[in-house]
Amino acid sequence: MRSFADRHIGTDAAAQQRMLEAVGAPSVDALLAAAVPGTIQHAQVPAGLPGPAAEHEVLARLRAIASRNKVRTSMIGQGYYDTVTPPVIQRNVLENPAWYTAYTPYQPEISQGRLEALLNFQTMVIDLSGLEVAGASMLDEATAAAEAMLLARRAAKGRGHRFLVDVDTFAQTRAVLATRAEPVGIELVPTDLTDGLAAADLTDVFGVLVQVPGASGRVPSRAVLESVTAAAHDAGALAVVVADLLATTVIAAPGEYGADVAVGTTQRFGVPMGFGGPHAGYMAVRRGLERQLPGRLVGVSKDADGAPAMRLALQTREQHIRREKATSNICTAQVLLAVMAAMYAVYHGPEGLTAIARQVHARALELAARLRTGGVPPRHEHFFDTLELVVPGRAESVAQAALARDITVFVADADHVRVSTDELTTRAVVEDLAAAVLSAAGETASAGNLAAEHHDAATSSTAGDALPTDMGRTGEFLTHPVFHAHRSETAMMRYLRRLADKDYALDRGMIPLGSCTMKLNAAVEMQAITWPELARIHPFAPADDVAGYLDLIHELEGWLAAATGYDAVSLQPNAGSQGELAGLLAIRGYHASRGESARDVCLIPASAHGTNAASAVLAGLRVVVVATDGNGNVDLADLRRLVAEHADRLAAVMITYPSTHGVYETQVREVCAAVHDGGGQVYIDGANLNALLGHALPGEFGGDVSHLNLHKTFCIPHGGGGPGVGPVAARAHLAPFLPGHPLAPDAGQRRLRLDGAVSAAPYGSPSILPISWAYIALMGAEGLRAATDAAVLAANYVAARLGEYYPVLYRGADGLVAHECILDLRPLRAATGVTVDDVAKRLIDYGFHAPTMSFPVAGTLMVEPTESEDLGEIDRFCEAMVAIAAEAARVGAGEWPADDNPLVGAPHTALSLTGDWAHPYSRAEAVFPVPGLADGKYWPPVRRVDGAYGDRHLVCACPPVEAFDSVV
Ligand SMILES: Cc1ncc(COP(=O)(O)O)c(C=O)c1O
Repeated sequence: MRSFADRHIGTDAAAQQRMLEAVGAPSVDALLAAAVPGTIQHAQVPAGLPGPAAEHEVLARLRAIASRNKVRTSMIGQGYYDTVTPPVIQRNVLENPAWYTAYTPYQPEISQGRLEALLNFQTMVIDLSGLEVAGASMLDEATAAAEAMLLARRAAKGRGHRFLVDVDTFAQTRAVLATRAEPVGIELVPTDLTDGLAAADLTDVFGVLVQVPGASGRVPSRAVLESVTAAAHDAGALAVVVADLLATTVIAAPGEYGADVAVGTTQRFGVPMGFGGPHAGYMAVRRGLERQLPGRLVGVSKDADGAPAMRLALQTREQHIRREKATSNICTAQVLLAVMAAMYAVYHGPEGLTAIARQVHARALELAARLRTGGVPPRHEHFFDTLELVVPGRAESVAQAALARDITVFVADADHVRVSTDELTTRAVVEDLAAAVLSAAGETASAGNLAAEHHDAATSSTAGDALPTDMGRTGEFLTHPVFHAHRSETAMMRYLRRLADKDYALDRGMIPLGSCTMKLNAAVEMQAITWPELARIHPFAPADDVAGYLDLIHELEGWLAAATGYDAVSLQPNAGSQGELAGLLAIRGYHASRGESARDVCLIPASAHGTNAASAVLAGLRVVVVATDGNGNVDLADLRRLVAEHADRLAAVMITYPSTHGVYETQVREVCAAVHDGGGQVYIDGANLNALLGHALPGEFGGDVSHLNLHKTFCIPHGGGGPGVGPVAARAHLAPFLPGHPLAPDAGQRRLRLDGAVSAAPYGSPSILPISWAYIALMGAEGLRAATDAAVLAANYVAARLGEYYPVLYRGADGLVAHECILDLRPLRAATGVTVDDVAKRLIDYGFHAPTMSFPVAGTLMVEPTESEDLGEIDRFCEAMVAIAAEAARVGAGEWPADDNPLVGAPHTALSLTGDWAHPYSRAEAVFPVPGLADGKYWPPVRRVDGAYGDRHLVCACPPVEAFDSVV
């Protein structure tokens, strides 16, 4: 029987033999021995990785793991709530490869479906937050709050360094703010905003953050909130509101009381808790701040025919362009989850969302009434879904009594318990919980009564709710037709299908994106993520309830450590960029612990991914660029010069291995040694680990710390731009400085730090970790090594086949590349005028997603075929590239005019074929340039998108339906 590795790897022995012949290598082993420098080669597969297992065995093991988790009724709240994922969304988005295997929409012509879904997300966030512009997802609520803090500092009028934070903010948000504030010199000032800012010292304040509803459940009055935002503005500061978007269907939106920025999570819009993630965070800003938005923003522009077309606006590739001056380091975000949340709003519409919110509130009211009658009134008079109960000395007993009834609650401290209602809370649950609380609160009930705020019935808006009278939501929201047109399951299913049909994802064909590693995300790996035992778990559930998750997490950490040669791994960072930040903070913490805080220089090669420089700045480091030599390698002499120049200021070097040039640099050990000799630490960006697995260990050949991208090497799908997981792996001396978390269920057992959180949840995005766990379990150590072999062979095969048409820009020893190769299109442009853009768009007509464009070198394409493509598909790609070179030659020869040829005209839509055809090339040449395309051809829905036009006329919400009339 074929093993899983045989199915994951696209090329079989016969195909590999043919590829070896083209490359000129006698065997795969010989190829790898020649490509990977002997100085770092590991002869044996690393110990500590499992043997391969069959698909049914892996699923059975995952079942056993999942069964060690306990699904209870979670009333823990604190930013995570049980929710119903509409099955039509689960099946057609979360479980549909057309959505989950798509890449970030950098090529907008083949991404209109997910761009529309994200535009729905932005429109939803704009409407519910009451602000004017929203981005296309953030990593989670806590990091969104940190990004808002940094935005406020950039945008505030004054030069202040103090940021006031409402004490009634979730603990995880405060923890992430603390991690992010200190390195960049921000002083966090915890402030009680119950009565506004009247008593606060606003000197040097650049921003104020308030959470609505608060962590204790309190909903402040609009008058207080308006006084807070007005006082902030008077002081030249920005007002940031962390808002629950479900609540804003029934209470005033942040924009209505003067917020400049609103952030939060959209988890409770149909995205399972999943032990903490992944979920889409959001950020919205008032007009004027849109250019400060971190992450990605979808905007409406027009295509070559003038039809509306969407694309990423403004800062599409911001980190690459602005590097250390970037507004943020966020690259991969949470697109798939943003799509789910947006579709939840599309499916329910404004009335549906409001009804859900009203029901959530009604249950909280019922609970409050019962507890009040029993002598344990909620602490706050005004609340939405969360009650804080004052139970002096009895908080643990209350939690235990609730647990005995299969309900979990949040123990805020020895005297306070918080309970939250959600979409699934029933009357029976309310009764059960009330009984548990009252039985355990015992004689403390009357004390709690005394501690409760004075209840003034006159301030409640109606007898039927517990919201401040002045906090009612006014005005309509979600009025766009998209939030009204898809209410039946049939309509919703068809809408999702229609959008998916516009897009090109891995389920259609190869996506040869260098550095991004678009490999197979096997169905078996995806299967567990929706099981209730993994999906319906709260991140702050008791450790005993998450034993399965903790086993899986610790096993995966161990495997990743074994695969990389490091001693410790933290799975908390929820994207590569966050892993970078966590790794650099570990370096910073280490230097500080040795009394060497002055070490603040981070050396980064010119070729590095833009997130590297952006992360270094966020970690409080100064970026100094190291030159690369003529072969694209780190210039060792320049590095040594910089090490000497910065001497005791040297903190670290950040290199990528194999390099972003797709080359195994032979002198990597020397690079690492030079930095170590200078007292610095070595950060190895592990985004290209798929070229090392089974052959070399970064922790062994010189790295002190690396991040890995589980959404590359370890098969988590890209989801159209996230989720990702960016674990950080470190050697023992840095382990004490890896991320901690104040609320990790097993913090005590593992002696985890309570500080240093870089994500909202202790384990980041655990519900997708079974994907990587399954991949490793299925492949085993030998399979992982075979995958590396196949990936390197495929890249060298492409280099061998295409090198004569497009020079391969950089090669390593023996003329070999690693797992990707850079094709230089600048000579083609010089000879024919055809640009890298033209080639990328023309590939769409040939049925391909373009390779990575102009990174790391402008005017080039970086091709990464991965191990999962078969030879037929790789050949089809090579033939397309050869045919395109021939087309370019015809342009160069003057056979086709420079401004009217199939390349500048690409991509061609079906619509563009109708009507008159005045081009010097035929319709068939336009859309069927090579044989075999007719069967199942991918038709792009729009022609080339005009990005600059969209940036000049920024539209970031759903346009009126009439705007699309011109299309047909
Ligand atoms: C070399 C390199 N480093 C870092 C990153 C950042 O990872 P993420 O997008 O997960 O934040 C990437 C992403 O493409 C990358 O290619």
